[in-house]
Amino acid sequence: MRVISLFSGIGGLDKGFVDAGFKIVWANDFDKYAVQTYNANFDVPSTLADITTYPIEEIPEFDVLIGGFPCQPFSMMGQQKGFEDTRGTLFFRIAEIIAYQIDVRKHKPRAIILENVRALRTHDNGHTLARIKEILKEDLGYNVFDMNLNSSDYGVPQTRNRTYIVCFANDEVKEFDPPEKEKLTYYMQDVLEEDVPDKYFLSEKIRKTVLSSGSGGWVAKAETDLPIARPLCATMAKMHRASQDNYVTQDKGLRRLTPRECARLQGFDGPKSSDFVIPVSDSQAYKQFGNAVTVNVSRAVAKAVKTKLQEVGEWND
Ligand SMILES: C[S@@+](CC[C@H](N)C(=O)[O-])C[C@H]1O[C@@H](n2cnc3c(N)ncnc32)[C@H](O)[C@@H]1O
Repeated sequence: MRVISLFSGIGGLDKGFVDAGFKIVWANDFDKYAVQTYNANFDVPSTLADITTYPIEEIPEFDVLIGGFPCQPFSMMGQQKGFEDTRGTLFFRIAEIIAYQIDVRKHKPRAIILENVRALRTHDNGHTLARIKEILKEDLGYNVFDMNLNSSDYGVPQTRNRTYIVCFANDEVKEFDPPEKEKLTYYMQDVLEEDVPDKYFLSEKIRKTVLSSGSGGWVAKAETDLPIARPLCATMAKMHRASQDNYVTQDKGLRRLTPRECARLQGFDGPKSSDFVIPVSDSQAYKQFGNAVTVNVSRAVAKAVKTKLQEVGEWND
């Protein structure tokens, strides 16, 4: 199945789909550092370009579209501007790309898989998600399913809730259940590296700040060494308080996670492996892993999509 990957980042969605037997024929992102990491790890390089200006006719023909479109406008941490924010309109670009393929190329993509933050479900009292689903269903003609999936239900020790929207062109697909959950077999402590450089350990001053429970009207409990990590976020290079971020204790004291540990908590690597190539600076790597889709979740969704396509006789290698 030929897949195009929009907003490919470092390929969390892509890796899950490749593992499940799909073939990425084109990927795109406009962040040169994300593309650098992607291209160090995938056979087909991601094209560095802004998707809003990239000519649609130059995107190759595809059977499946995947995309974790930018979530800032829908995130609880953002200002909840949604469609009024131009980034929110990136969904419309996705719809245009699908429509071009249906109307001009006369080849309707068989499945569309989109990922976003959990808050997309509640944004504007559910109207934003309802509008997205309406466009996919009424304008583009898909059967549309949406679900919230948590990474810790799919084998990685990280709490990370995300909305997945899964669409099928075939009318026979009347239901699509969340993929079966997988048991956790390891925890955050199991992904830790040994002999970690001093730069990851906190100075006494920073340690005090991150462990403080906040001030004024905003007080939250500082907790470190959690068995299941808090959600990795794109701004973790800034080192948030321990009530929002992940810190672990090792011989030399309290430290932040290393980029490799982030790769493991996002499923790019197993608990002890270091195969995923990280060719960028630490601060770029934190941003990239914080932005990524957890590979295990993507793989579970991809396998379930493949099974559905096989059931309706639409799977091809
Ligand atoms: C949430 S991240 C996607 C992460 C990706 N699915 C992964 O697993 O690594 C969103 C990505 O969209 C990219 N992006 C945002 N606006 C874009 C645009 N106009 N054109 C191309 N890429 C864009 C960002 O650079 C970022 O890498």
